[in-house]
Amino acid sequence: MMKRIAVLVSGGGTNLQALLDAQAHGEIKGGEIVLVLSSAEGAYALERAKNAGVDSCVVARKSFDSNRAMTQAIVKELQGRNIDLVVLAGFLHILTEEMVTAYPNAILNVHPALIPSFCGAGYYGLKVHEKALAYGVKVSGATVHFVTEEPDGGPIVLQKAVAVQEGDTPEILQKRIMQEAEWVILPQAVSLFCEDRLKVDGRTVHILEHS
Ligand code: GAR
Repeated sequence: MMKRIAVLVSGGGTNLQALLDAQAHGEIKGGEIVLVLSSAEGAYALERAKNAGVDSCVVARKSFDSNRAMTQAIVKELQGRNIDLVVLAGFLHILTEEMVTAYPNAILNVHPALIPSFCGAGYYGLKVHEKALAYGVKVSGATVHFVTEEPDGGPIVLQKAVAVQEGDTPEILQKRIMQEAEWVILPQAVSLFCEDRLKVDGRTVHILEHS
């Protein structure tokens, strides 16, 4: 059975685009992106969904008093569409426990650093790269992990390192990490999940060979 994938976004959606492109090239094996859910009206990611002929909806963060109320509305939307895998692709709000309870080991997030560095509450978008440069690291990168109740704390699926270069600004580093790491490992991780090749064993995710 093809897995039904929902991609949650908040902004530009370049990671969503990487997933849509991978799908168009037959690189998402065993799954299909059937929904793009945005936390903001007017997010460019919604245009990307439309251009690819993928259904979309908006659950606007600003319509709710709390992350919990927003999360409950999102879970309802996903369950109503029989979603099997939830992908957070530049989704910039912290989802509460209702989400993890509804989708245990079935939510993937891409984070623009090598977890456990530069992650957790307050580390999102450009801020991650500002903090990495302020610390003076010579290597950063991206991580795809399963989502648990601890922000950025779930089992790691894939990571890819990217060199920091002399003269990098947060914007330049962000772009390099997206191109060299995020857009590569996110589609790979989604395909591995949909092929049933990820086995979670405590904090460790084993990647199984093709059966
Ligand atoms: C990406 O760099 C993603 O890793 C990051 O936000 C950016 C969204 O870009 N996510 C986080 O910081 C999550 N903590 P996009 O909308 O173009 O994919």
